[in-house]
Amino acid sequence: MTPGSPAGADKLNADVDWDNFDPQAYIRNNYLVLHPDDEEILSAVRDHFGDHFRRNPGPVATGIDVGAGPNLYPAFTMLPWCDEITLYEWSAANVAHLEGQRASFDPDWDPFWDVLRKEDGYARLGADPRARFGQTVRPRHGNLYDLGEPGPNGEAERWAMGTMFFVAESITTSLDEFRRGVSCFMNALEPGAPFAAAFMEHSLGYQVGVHDFPASDVGEQEVRNLLKQYAGDVDPIHIGKPGGLVREGYTGMILACGHRND
Ligand SMILES: C[S@@+](CC[C@H](N)C(=O)[O-])C[C@H]1O[C@@H](n2cnc3c(N)ncnc32)[C@H](O)[C@@H]1O
Repeated sequence: MTPGSPAGADKLNADVDWDNFDPQAYIRNNYLVLHPDDEEILSAVRDHFGDHFRRNPGPVATGIDVGAGPNLYPAFTMLPWCDEITLYEWSAANVAHLEGQRASFDPDWDPFWDVLRKEDGYARLGADPRARFGQTVRPRHGNLYDLGEPGPNGEAERWAMGTMFFVAESITTSLDEFRRGVSCFMNALEPGAPFAAAFMEHSLGYQVGVHDFPASDVGEQEVRNLLKQYAGDVDPIHIGKPGGLVREGYTGMILACGHRND
């Protein structure tokens, strides 16, 4: 439940006007400087994708970052490996913000890229991946809950790798919707696709600018049990130390890296 909502009433994803999400305020709250928790996440995802593509060389066709918001670093983690990365997002304000970052993203993101550059695949793109980023990313207005559904040709669209950071649990108070969100993400991935998903642990909801947004209260066991249905090799890790928090109202983060089952 969001603070302030009536006892017992869930705040569902469709109850929220996501166009009120203020991308600049969100960046100021979370990404203006590189926080140690994000550095830990970036390092683990870099190693997961780097390892996958060392064993399976060659570019994959497409990647997707679901609920991208204004955060560019999940797309950075897929940049060396993809010809095209869909930045899939429901808020028109965030889609417009992402479009504005394509020509040349803000310098605040350079330290995030520097963490990735410690691995060869990323280092090959050099110190400034702006041109590559602009050519590769495609912001797209879309709803997480529509992923995995058959399109006009009767086939569901699928991507060869994917990321979803702080989305399924951070867009609803309903555990059913949380589970459905994870399932939709997983069903948008091709068999064998490498992925990374991050979750706020036991979040109470969050504020962006003057607006409150809902979150569902999920823990490591819930995430593990759910993801195991889609990815046998997944082994979620806890990120962040109690007391060292940059975002209020949660107890840490959970990062899950793995491969979609065949
Ligand atoms: C907590 S933010 C996470 C943003 C970003 N991924 C990050 O790592 O910081 C949740 C994001 O999910 C988006 N969102 C909300 N409902 C959605 C839906 N039904 N489908 C896709 N995105 C949605 C929001 O607009 C927002 O950008």
